[in-house]
Amino acid sequence: MASFKWGLFSPKGLQSIDESTARLNIWEGAVRSSKTICSIVRWLEYIKDGPPGDYLMTGKTERTLKRNILDPLEQIVGNKRFRYNRGMGEAYLAGRRIYVAGAADERAEGKIRGMTLAGAYGDELTLWPESFFKMLLSRLSVPGAKFFGTTNPDSPYHWLQAEYLKKEGLDLRSWHFMLEDNPNLDPVYVGALKKEYAGLWYKRFILGLWVLAEGAIYDMWDEDVHLIECPAKHQEYGVAIDYATATVMTFGLYGITGNKVYLIREYYYDAKKKGRQKTDSEFAGDFKVFLGDIVPRNIYLDPSATSFKAELRKAGYNQVKDADNDVLNGIRLVATFLNTGRFFVDRSCQETAKEFASYVWDPKAQERGEDKPLKQNDHAMDRNRYFIFTRFGKPQARATTARRGMR
Ligand SMILES: Nc1ncnc2c1ncn2[C@@H]1O[C@H](COP(=O)(O)OP(=O)(O)OP(=O)(O)O)[C@@H](O)[C@H]1O
Ligand SMILES: [Mg+2]
Repeated sequence: MASFKWGLFSPKGLQSIDESTARLNIWEGAVRSSKTICSIVRWLEYIKDGPPGDYLMTGKTERTLKRNILDPLEQIVGNKRFRYNRGMGEAYLAGRRIYVAGAADERAEGKIRGMTLAGAYGDELTLWPESFFKMLLSRLSVPGAKFFGTTNPDSPYHWLQAEYLKKEGLDLRSWHFMLEDNPNLDPVYVGALKKEYAGLWYKRFILGLWVLAEGAIYDMWDEDVHLIECPAKHQEYGVAIDYATATVMTFGLYGITGNKVYLIREYYYDAKKKGRQKTDSEFAGDFKVFLGDIVPRNIYLDPSATSFKAELRKAGYNQVKDADNDVLNGIRLVATFLNTGRFFVDRSCQETAKEFASYVWDPKAQERGEDKPLKQNDHAMDRNRYFIFTRFGKPQARATTARRGMR
């Protein structure tokens, strides 16, 4: 592994390293704003000078902790001084044993229940269950024990914000980082980064704000821009299906050309409005008519639609696959596609256009600190998300988390 190339620290970064002497020390704010690097510098110092006892490092999962923290840490100290034994869930640094655990892994809480800790480091704090964080704090019982952690913002009702960052009287210090607090980012990269995040995620991840998921989910949807006369010919065709018999069944035919996706045609059957439910075999018949002579490379189906999957297979559609139903990451990717001019809808797809305008966040879920779309007018929205996220989600996720954009 190549060694870490040191760059510059901002005044805020230096200050946070110096002043993180509270029991709880939290770096929060925009992506790529140097929270991790500053907190690692402080953590290394603590490992060297902190009180004797057991130390713990935790991320949402062990895998993300390795990618986000352990890998850069190893680059910084060199692989001779750092050893990570995945099987044991332990790392060794400067002669100290450090336990490694994922907060969202099953039985995570049980793993740390019996520990007595002198220090802990946490990554992606808002993605942890609150119970794990509470348990961790109760384990930090060695006198002088400290916690260091980083996070991106979430809802203002999120437990970390409401119960810790905003609470008076705790032995807690926090630093709010913005993109400008990282002097090492190339302006061209910052420009590209800003385009990757849209709507809610722009506010949270670029502006670094703890804001509600409220109002329109796709507030970047613009009929003048996105609703067009789509070209009919494409390099690749695909289909996504959101399945329902009692409410709405919808198919979308998507064309891909270059890095752009076009919804060229939609089928939208609302059983309630029509006053009649159709059977799976009737839908399979409609599907054949819908496709005409187009042969889609992939058919992404609502993963809960097992009966219809069997029906489509029986009709010879062997390219049927379960869609990836990761709701928030899916919505986020669709928002990015809209924002970067990579997703367009044909004018004929009126149901999709209507849903784009009326798809909103659920205010009740938000009060509990959860980001969730309201379960109404969401059929074409789910279908688009299935298509874009299943087809492009994984490589995209890798690309955005890759270490890049450095001067
Ligand atoms: N002092 C520094 N010297 C060299 N590179 C740095 C320095 N500070 C930050 N960087 C680099 O800038 C990029 C972003 O920094 P970092 O990962 O610490 O940001 P972050 O705020 O933790 O972002 P995220 O919220 O995305 O996790 C990284 O590639 C990191 O290596
Ligand atoms: Mg980070």
